[in-house]
Amino acid sequence: MKLDAVENKAKPSEMPHSAAMPRHVAIIMDGNGRWAAERGLPRALGHRSGVEAVRRTVKAAIELSIPYLTLYSFSSENWSRPKDEIDDLMGLMKRFIRRDLAELHQNNVCVKVIGERETIDAEMRALIEETCELTRGNTGLTLVIAFNYGARAEITRAARRLAEEVAAGRLLPSELSAEHMAGALDTGGLPDPDVLIRTSGERRLSNFLLWQCAYTEFVFLDAYWPDFGRELLLEAISQYRTRERRFGGLPCLSTA
Ligand code: IPE
Ligand code: IPE
Ligand code: MG
Repeated sequence: MKLDAVENKAKPSEMPHSAAMPRHVAIIMDGNGRWAAERGLPRALGHRSGVEAVRRTVKAAIELSIPYLTLYSFSSENWSRPKDEIDDLMGLMKRFIRRDLAELHQNNVCVKVIGERETIDAEMRALIEETCELTRGNTGLTLVIAFNYGARAEITRAARRLAEEVAAGRLLPSELSAEHMAGALDTGGLPDPDVLIRTSGERRLSNFLLWQCAYTEFVFLDAYWPDFGRELLLEAISQYRTRERRFGGLPCLSTA
């Protein structure tokens, strides 16, 4: 989708800055546990409210004609949490797919899932595969869910895949390029994120999209994820639109 098309869809009152809308928004959805703790609730209820925030955010992304939205839903390190919490998170993910898949499909959303597939349980794998298969041809929002995702593991898998190509004699070591690496990652074929949003006040990547965020703009918000929605998405986008992206070049100086 052309950026112009995106710009035309945004309401001028909501988009005060002249810089382009992001083509790809990635979000580290953090703070469910602290949101719950502040209310004296169990962490599980924070995660449940977090799913509502996911629904609001996907809806807003569709309305704003954002072409790509990537959500970090479960990291490869999150397995170190207590079993009860992991069970809650797995249950919520399965319920989200079962309950929302038809609506996402009706809304022309193409769902992709990145992360390690081999080690997750068979039911979850089947649900993920069904979701990706059903929505494969959709041409609206591409919703990328990072599940059982860790960037170091992703980069390692990509390196292994390319090493196999070399070992099989299909690729020379001297031919190996950044494009090969990018293409062998789970995100192969997707554009890099323009903006990465992290909620909850934490300011780190937590093993998310290490390769892909080389020139991504970071926006850190203090709000906890369950409070996220259209308004905070617009706030983050408006911060992004004030940034000058240089990609190692020089600032765009006025010639006047
Ligand atoms: C984000 O919220 C959800 C996942 C990491 C799965 P957290 O569960 O990390 O919430 P905090 O950071 O403990 O508040
Ligand atoms: C990152 O949040 C992972 C997800 C949002 C899925 P964490 O809460 O796991 O990150 P750390 O442990 O604070 O770095
Ligand atoms: Mg956290």
